[in-house]
Amino acid sequence: MSNDILFTPIFAGALALRNRIVMAPLTRSRSSEAGIVPPFAAEYYAQRAGAGLIVSEATNISPQARGYAMTPGIWNAQQVEAWRGVTDAVHARGGTMVLQLWHTGRISHPDLHGGELPVAPSAIRPTGQAFTRDGLKDHVTPRALETDEIPRIVEDYRNAARCAREAGFDGVEVHAANNYLLEQFIRDSTNRRDDRYGGTVENRIRFPVDVVRAVTEEWDGGDRVGIRLSPGTTMPGETPLDSDPAGTYGALLTALKPLGLAYVHMIEGVTQQKRDQPDGLDAAWIRRHVDGVVIGNNGYSAELAAEAIGARRVDAVSFGRPFIANPDLVERLRTGAPLAEAPKPYWYGGGSTGYSDWPAMPKTA
Ligand SMILES: Cc1cc2nc3c(=O)[nH]c(=O)nc-3n(C[C@H](O)[C@H](O)[C@H](O)COP(=O)(O)O)c2cc1C
Repeated sequence: MSNDILFTPIFAGALALRNRIVMAPLTRSRSSEAGIVPPFAAEYYAQRAGAGLIVSEATNISPQARGYAMTPGIWNAQQVEAWRGVTDAVHARGGTMVLQLWHTGRISHPDLHGGELPVAPSAIRPTGQAFTRDGLKDHVTPRALETDEIPRIVEDYRNAARCAREAGFDGVEVHAANNYLLEQFIRDSTNRRDDRYGGTVENRIRFPVDVVRAVTEEWDGGDRVGIRLSPGTTMPGETPLDSDPAGTYGALLTALKPLGLAYVHMIEGVTQQKRDQPDGLDAAWIRRHVDGVVIGNNGYSAELAAEAIGARRVDAVSFGRPFIANPDLVERLRTGAPLAEAPKPYWYGGGSTGYSDWPAMPKTA
């Protein structure tokens, strides 16, 4: 079967994608302590502008949002200015780029908060370790947020969404996946609250929906706003699934429908591990719950992506790991050229080596 369908354009809301190949968000941990992306990030992202859409690495909405050392921020003027260098470079190559808005919640460590505890819906300790400046350290039991702190975090998202607009992004993606703060509220495995943000499904989705609404208000509507979900993933933190993924995430998507989002970005299965979705979350389920574009993700090859788009299970597919060592991934998938592989030590931390110095294929005459 031909893969031609991957190279056809599509609109996701107001976002014009020149092909169906999306660059998935990739944390690369090369920012300063102050959350400023390095100057060579502009070249890194511009090299990948052939993607139909670039989703930036997850970007902290506030100091409290941080959970990993050397990740960027989007809450102040210096950060906006640094990101402006990136969006200018991507636009100069004809690319389209959204910023991923992030709050890590309990997947964090006191080292990133001057010794204070990370915050979460409930005081439940994740399994595993946090990435700090001094290396990996065990996760701790987080502090449960007070009810009146939650609307303030919504305002942090609003400010970050405004900053992203000032920085020249084409839109934003709300990161409600991979068991960070928003997904910690959604799932009954991590949310044991008994206030208006916990208990029933309506209560558990209240904060994420308030966040998305605030973000769409900053962007004058939903057509440049996407959301990322991962109902089937257990990482990080060995986080148990919700007890009723189809019911809970179905209620969330139903509540989001009136906001007219540009797209829903679905991590299928366990991130980077396997593609099996929880029971009931098949393509018919997602089509029933989403009016706009669906971007699939997780372990796709070009062939599987073309087949899934052809069968209308998804409208576009994002690739994560393949974009690390293949800046011209779109061209390679088009020509069937071999893919380079990035050794893991280059994934997180370091400078431009193993980041913005991966060569494109030699040009043939
Ligand atoms: C190095 C690395 C960093 C990642 N950072 C993020 C991130 O910042 N935000 C996010 O939502 N997912 C992140 N992910 C998950 C990817 O976006 C993607 O879901 C995952 O790699 C599966 O897609 P793939 O099989 O095409 O790589 C990261 C994955 C890797 C390998």
